[in-house]
Amino acid sequence: MSPALFCVCAGAVPERDGHSVAAMKAALYRELGAAKDVLRVEELDRPSPGPGEVLVRVHASGVNPTDWKARSGATPMQVDSFQIPHHDGAGVIEGVGPGVSEARVGERVWVWYAAAGRRWGTAAEWTVVPSRQAVTLPPGASFELGASIGVPAMTAHRCLFADGPVSGKTVLVAGGAGAVGHYAIELAKRAGARVVATVSGPQKAELAAKAGADLVLNYHDQDTVDRLKAFAPVVDRVVEVALGANLALDLAVSGPSTVVVTYAADGDDPVLPVRDCMTANVTLRFVLLYRVPAPALDQAVTDISAALSDGALSELPVQRFALDEVAAAHEAVQAGALGKVIVTP
Ligand SMILES: NC(=O)c1ccc[n+]([C@@H]2O[C@H](COP(=O)([O-])OP(=O)(O)OC[C@H]3O[C@@H](n4cnc5c(N)ncnc54)[C@H](OP(=O)(O)O)[C@@H]3O)[C@@H](O)[C@H]2O)c1
Repeated sequence: MSPALFCVCAGAVPERDGHSVAAMKAALYRELGAAKDVLRVEELDRPSPGPGEVLVRVHASGVNPTDWKARSGATPMQVDSFQIPHHDGAGVIEGVGPGVSEARVGERVWVWYAAAGRRWGTAAEWTVVPSRQAVTLPPGASFELGASIGVPAMTAHRCLFADGPVSGKTVLVAGGAGAVGHYAIELAKRAGARVVATVSGPQKAELAAKAGADLVLNYHDQDTVDRLKAFAPVVDRVVEVALGANLALDLAVSGPSTVVVTYAADGDDPVLPVRDCMTANVTLRFVLLYRVPAPALDQAVTDISAALSDGALSELPVQRFALDEVAAAHEAVQAGALGKVIVTP
């Protein structure tokens, strides 16, 4: 946690104890529980960027399932005094701490991992993050796009590339209209892969096709396996959101070149058909963004930034919530909202 609760930054603000001080509105919780019970908006002293940190004026704060899971206690998490939620965001750097070039002040940035082991999530008017976690947002990219990519695109990147390039390969993206699935399609296409995506209905099929999937299948249809096998008897990567539900489908198109990469633990755990996995010679991989090695995260940031600059990453439909509506924003994500939920401080 950054201990600083006063602001030393650009801009005219009141003084306290020789330091500039200003208030900010932040959504926060002091204990774990249901969104409506524990999330509130309070006024805090604006945080100050410590060594190696930047102060970002938040224009858009992206909500991910991990944010409601942490707040509710569904994942291991402790609150030290208070927690401002949300890892992802976008805005403008307004101050820098020691060791960071002042040339960064005024830079438009997308922010990742803001609340990882820190209390300064992006659901506030300002946040402080290590400089490395505030990445230049190209002029053509909106703040809402910038606030959509941290967790989803970095997870998608790890799932796709942990086992090497995908150029010329075939990728199956389960849940192609989800946030991770969306960026998995776009990053895979940009990297030169053929992509097939599965979805649950026509609206999501449209989104997956728009993201660039070469084939979109409804996983409820009877002929899904046949159509998938006709497209690709064996796929090279599966970016898997529901291993328990989809393992049989994945194994139907698995061979020695196939890596099935699971990044979600919702729903039932699979019963592992060991003989079928052996027969396919398939590799199973699991990804949790919080434990991905730092060099792989840096590579993800580099590749995602290049994709942003090329205009290769797009926004899902956005549901916007004011800061005061943060509890409703969490409930929308928990209920499986279509597209991206954004809080605008
Ligand atoms: N491991 C990590 O580091 C990491 C990182 C990011 C996210 N996650 C987790 O990954 C999950 C998805 O995150 P997200 O932000 O992408 O959520 P999201 O935007 O809600 O997308 C989830 C998608 O999965 C689809 N889906 C559900 N069951 C499916 C099935 N059996 N087959 C195919 N698609 C299915 C959903 O659509 P339908 O229900 O309509 O099919 C939905 O489009 C969450 O549990 C999240 O906590 C983990």
